[in-house]
Amino acid sequence: MSNLDRRSFLKNSIGATLLAGLTGPRLMARLGDTAPLSTDASIFPQLLVDGGDIVAAVTGQEVWRGTSTPVWTLGGTWPAPTITVDTGEEFSARLVNNLDEPTIIHWHGLHAPSLMDGHPRNVIGPGESYDYRFLVKNRAGTYWYHPHPHMETAKQVYMGMAGFFIVHDAEERALSLPSGKYDVPFAIQDRLLLGEQKISYEPGMADLIDGLLGDAVFVNGSPTPRFSVDRGLYRIRLLNGSNARIYTLSFGDNRTFQVIGTDGGLLDRPYDVTSIVLAPAERVELLVDFSNDSNGASVEFASSGFGVSGRQAVPLSVMTFVVGPDEGWRQPFPTSLTRIDMLDPNSATKTRTFQLRMEMNMGMPHHLIGTDSYDMERVDVIANADGTEIWEFTNLTPISHPMHIHNAFFQVLTRNGAPPTDPTDFGWKDTVNVKSTESVRVIVRFGADTGLFVFHCHNLEHAGHGMMLNLELVDGAMGVEQTGNVRKMDLR
Ligand code: C2O
Ligand code: CU
Ligand code: CU
Repeated sequence: MSNLDRRSFLKNSIGATLLAGLTGPRLMARLGDTAPLSTDASIFPQLLVDGGDIVAAVTGQEVWRGTSTPVWTLGGTWPAPTITVDTGEEFSARLVNNLDEPTIIHWHGLHAPSLMDGHPRNVIGPGESYDYRFLVKNRAGTYWYHPHPHMETAKQVYMGMAGFFIVHDAEERALSLPSGKYDVPFAIQDRLLLGEQKISYEPGMADLIDGLLGDAVFVNGSPTPRFSVDRGLYRIRLLNGSNARIYTLSFGDNRTFQVIGTDGGLLDRPYDVTSIVLAPAERVELLVDFSNDSNGASVEFASSGFGVSGRQAVPLSVMTFVVGPDEGWRQPFPTSLTRIDMLDPNSATKTRTFQLRMEMNMGMPHHLIGTDSYDMERVDVIANADGTEIWEFTNLTPISHPMHIHNAFFQVLTRNGAPPTDPTDFGWKDTVNVKSTESVRVIVRFGADTGLFVFHCHNLEHAGHGMMLNLELVDGAMGVEQTGNVRKMDLR
């Protein structure tokens, strides 16, 4: 099908059937006005958008104050606008590609029909557009969106094309969690500046193995992130939007804070921690209390690095919270948040194991799931959309692989046979960091939608160099679930 045909197909058939089947109010997505702020990684007033265009383009942005830097943007801002929707609302947007190369947007963590999911085979070329429309079925949580073209995702995300997609629901609103200006999302991304003020994607040989590791941390697009806070409690949503960097995050004074949510929304209750590890694509929601800080205090938030040696082990400053004179949110936080039904491993209908490997081929590293490098036109795993499965990832390499499954959420069962102990492994996850030599077992629930999806390592250099497979979800009645080189797709 040509792109033109596909577009009218989307409009006529998908649009019509989706619209007919949808309940709930029409689109109420709000795009945040994300003015770049080089000294304050603030978030921004929310705008109402109704089926608006999200233009992908190279634009000049004030990444560094007083100078315009060419970057790649979605929606014309650096970083991309924050979208907020309520569960049960319909989301629609038109991606317009004004880049010189193919792109497509994936809504990371959102349950969406296959054609709405940004599968790499649905890329559009320069000058083309793609219409998205789907019902938001996810529970409240911190999701995000970014491009997903085969082999170009790493560059496009690095160059600036990523934003938050925040979902609210009634259950979450009924809890008295900090809200309004006390509920702030921060996207953490490292980039390699080498002392220069420019954004350019130039991975070296080591980056093709480790993934691209930068020397500067940006928060919400700011290379010098400082955020002014009132003296009170904050709900802080963190996204690791980096290509490959894994952070071990804590405050300079080692204060205790609470983890209240992970990739798929709230946990059963707040968990006290003094540090958290966040791998690429993982999200975490925190409660951080600045009530006892004095006016004018600076509170550092930094990464001590990941692992004991190597390029990931480098400590990095992340951002500074600057405490102001005003009193902020002073309500005590709830001691219980939601109910998470733990999936029973005995209810799994299937167990699959995946070995994560690396091979050198003609001097180039290839990152593999099993033995197969990604082929857009090969279906690798067929699963029943309504099944519950155990997936085990075994990492045979010296580097971590944050594994992500589209149109699915899972619970972490074990790491090397032991139940997880870090709150960032609790609740509903869509990405799990599989460390070197580790075997991680997760129990997976797929979204109801059938069709073609992917799962992959979210180290974006790894994903671009093979570490991704096609996942086809089928109606349970067909009973054809299997793993491994199933068939070449009939690409229409
Ligand atoms: Cu954020 Cu396929 O990923
Ligand atoms: Cu995803
Ligand atoms: Cu990887």
